[in-house]
Amino acid sequence: MANTHTADMHTADISAAALAQSDETFAERLEAREAELESLFRMLYGDAPEFDEFEDAMAEAYEDRPEDLKELDKSREQTPDWYKRGDMFGMTMYTDLFAGSLRKLANRIDYLKEQDLTYLHLMPLLKMPHPNNDGGYAIEDFDTVDPLIGSNKDLAALTKKLRGAGISLCLDFVMNHTASTHRWAKAAEAGDPEYQDYYFCYDDRTVPDEYDAVVPQVFPNTAPGNFTWNEKMDKWVMTQFYPFQWDLNYRNPKVFVAMMRSVLGLANLGVEIFRIDAVPYIWKELGTNCRNLPQVHTIVRMMRIMLEIVCPAVVLKGEVVMAPKELAAYFGTPEHPECHMLYNVSIMVNLWSALASGDVRLLKTQIDKLNALPEHCWFVNYLRCHDDIGWGLDEDVEESLGIDPLKHKEFLYHFYEGAVPGSWSMGELYNYDEASRDARSCGTTASLCGVEKAVITHDRPAYEKALRRDLLMHRAMAFLRGFPMLNCGDEIGQLNGWEYKEDPDRVEDSRNLHRSPFDWRKAAKRGTEGTLQRRLWEGMAELRDMRDDPCFAPDAWVTTWDAHDDRVLAVVRRSGDRTLLGLFNFADASAAATLDSDGDVSLPRRVELAAYESKVLVCD
Ligand code: GLC
Repeated sequence: MANTHTADMHTADISAAALAQSDETFAERLEAREAELESLFRMLYGDAPEFDEFEDAMAEAYEDRPEDLKELDKSREQTPDWYKRGDMFGMTMYTDLFAGSLRKLANRIDYLKEQDLTYLHLMPLLKMPHPNNDGGYAIEDFDTVDPLIGSNKDLAALTKKLRGAGISLCLDFVMNHTASTHRWAKAAEAGDPEYQDYYFCYDDRTVPDEYDAVVPQVFPNTAPGNFTWNEKMDKWVMTQFYPFQWDLNYRNPKVFVAMMRSVLGLANLGVEIFRIDAVPYIWKELGTNCRNLPQVHTIVRMMRIMLEIVCPAVVLKGEVVMAPKELAAYFGTPEHPECHMLYNVSIMVNLWSALASGDVRLLKTQIDKLNALPEHCWFVNYLRCHDDIGWGLDEDVEESLGIDPLKHKEFLYHFYEGAVPGSWSMGELYNYDEASRDARSCGTTASLCGVEKAVITHDRPAYEKALRRDLLMHRAMAFLRGFPMLNCGDEIGQLNGWEYKEDPDRVEDSRNLHRSPFDWRKAAKRGTEGTLQRRLWEGMAELRDMRDDPCFAPDAWVTTWDAHDDRVLAVVRRSGDRTLLGLFNFADASAAATLDSDGDVSLPRRVELAAYESKVLVCD
């Protein structure tokens, strides 16, 4: 059959059985995985007839898949660990804030190449309502690029150009909900029971109240409650996030199959990594907190198998903002893997905690826990992204170290909003909840590290220190297991965008503090010696040089080491008989690491570090 792919999401009309007859590759992949896939599907959906439709959707997507992507699939089947390479270096950004549109972004690829990026995460860009869309996380059409950002054709052209530059595109797949303006939601609103069954709709408060009794709130402040009254429909609808984001009902196999079709369509436009958004929330069960339920894992496992059949070049990155003990399950097991990688949320939070307190004990314990995970677990390390910093530290560990979890959390969010004496930071609170005294923090890396305050107060020594903090945080993050991802703007020390407060559409959500237009004028200063931009730019280049070392091989052994000083994080990386020692002083004072050698690992006995200094030493 001819390849019917166009840049629009055209689907060939073919059944899985017919395709398996004519295409050996598809037949082999399907045969190897079909039994498991079907048994998982049956676990959730019994004998629902939609399984055939699901398989046909896979066949159609395979038929539609462009030849160059099929080539990529084949080569990645030979190198399935491609995303673990030491030279992986990522960035996340909003298309509109960085360049204006997909087409304009395609003309800015040189800026990305200059940084040797291999991974680009573009924030949601599918059709969304305006202006209220939760940064694009309210999606109106999962198959179409938002016209303000571009077209499907532009996206396909961009991914091709990026691939040519060695950059893989990551896109969100917002699985948990649709916009209230999605065609399914509109049909539900118009009274169609078939589409009301795509969501959770109730005539009165009986069931919503039962859910609310146990389900925590995501946005207690900006969007309280888990249900919203819909006047037109005359029903309550589940909206765990914003009221204009309707939670999808994955108990309905039609929802699952339709969403999987969209994933495959996007993969055929050249998306190589899917960030599965808010994935722990996708399955709801009365009487539970509706987080991390076993059915979530069944769905993720089915997605993984589906990709392995249709487009094995494509990998899954889970957004799991959960307590550390929940994380490991999202990788599945080596025999039945789920996500290829996860955001390293807990290390991100622990890095900021260590920086404010000048104490690395919590961070070290957390790194140890993650390093103890099986080899197939892989992380995207980062300091800042488009979201807030939610202070989800490991309370058991805090208590075992004599740290009061609530007091420490309060210290952290007040510290980063600059409200604690001696704080260098300029950030803001996010979703402060009086009842639980919980709050999260917003701000750019540079502003949270003290650059903004030092610039405003013309304090040169404070400025130097802030820069050291910023570089220390990046170096420590990039030294850990996984690969580093920058938030666009961090490479030039972009400061907070306070102007969001003047915009009535954005003022309510303080995450907008770190979501401002990329400052191209400042970026131009990266060529000028001595500027903030130049110094950070060089700092980022040093990270990449550091990661060129063989000790950043995917199978390197990574472990923390006792520095005999709670202010200093020591991490050892070992590959073959080569050892690298990373030392990171999180304190505003000089410190000395005292190291014991052990077995094959021979380390220097004592290393002095200035305030916020880091050192990476080859120990042969
Ligand atoms: C994820 C996104 C966040 C969004 C939420 C709802 O957590 O990172 O920005 O608000 O999902 O889709």
